[in-house]
Amino acid sequence: MVKKLCCLLATPTALLATCALAQSGASIELPEPRYQGELSVEQALQTRRSVRSYDPRALTLDEISQLLWAAQGLKYGEFRTAPSAGALYPLEVHLVAGNIEGMAPGVYRYDPASHRLREVLMGDVRDALASSAYGQDWVADAPAALIFSAVYERSTGKYGKRGIRYAHMEAGHAGQNVYLQARALGLGTVVVGAFTDSRVKKVLRMAADEQPLSIMPVGQPPG
Ligand SMILES: Cc1cc2nc3c(=O)[nH]c(=O)nc-3n(C[C@H](O)[C@H](O)[C@H](O)COP(=O)(O)O)c2cc1C
Repeated sequence: MVKKLCCLLATPTALLATCALAQSGASIELPEPRYQGELSVEQALQTRRSVRSYDPRALTLDEISQLLWAAQGLKYGEFRTAPSAGALYPLEVHLVAGNIEGMAPGVYRYDPASHRLREVLMGDVRDALASSAYGQDWVADAPAALIFSAVYERSTGKYGKRGIRYAHMEAGHAGQNVYLQARALGLGTVVVGAFTDSRVKKVLRMAADEQPLSIMPVGQPPG
C-alpha cells in the first residue's frame, strides 16, 4: 500500500517525504479475529482470575489480534465489542509489545476500524511501564500489555461531566472483555489501576488530551 502510494507521487521530493512519513508510523495488519471458540462464556466467567506471573514464551500475532479485537474491535464492521454511551467511543488502546512473534518490541496504537496497529515508537518499554506502575513486576514480565486510555472530550462534548463517568464505565466493560478473551485463549491477565498517570503518558507518548485508565499485562500462565 505504502509502495503503491509512493509510486503515484509525481516528484522525487514528494516521494521521499511521503515514504519517510509512512515509515515513521508504520502500520501492521493483524490477522482476522476468530468469532468462535472452545470455551463457553459461562466457563470463562467461572474460571477467570487475575494472573500475575507468566511463562516466558512469546505471544503470537493471532493471540494479540484476538485480544485487541475483544478490547475494542468492530462487530459486523461498525459498533465495537464493548458498549459505548452514545456510540461516541472515548477509549483508545495501546499495545506494549515485548515478546511477540513477528513483531518488533515497541509501542503501538490499535485502530479498530482497520484492525491494524500503528507504530508509535520502537524499543522495549516494559521496564519503564512497570516502573510507572510502582514497580509491579508483572507489567515488566508479561510478553505484552494492553493499555486503555480515554479522550474524555469525545463523551463530555455530548454528556458534559457525566461523560467522564461513562468513559470509566466503558473501560470496565472493555477490560472484562480482555479478561474473558484471555481466559478463552488459555492466557492470563490482570487489570492494573495503580500507576502514575503522567509517567504512563510519557512512556507511551500519549497526547495531552488522552488519560491512561488501566494497564493489562497479558501472557500464558506458568505450567
Ligand atoms: C479498578 C481495579 C484496579 C486494580 N488495580 C490493580 C493493580 O494495580 N495491581 C494488581 O495487581 N491488581 C489490580 N487489580 C486486580 C484486583 O486485585 C483483583 O481483581 C482482585 O484481587 C480480585 O481477584 P480476581 O480478579 O482474580 O477475581 C485491580 C482491579 C480493579 C478492578
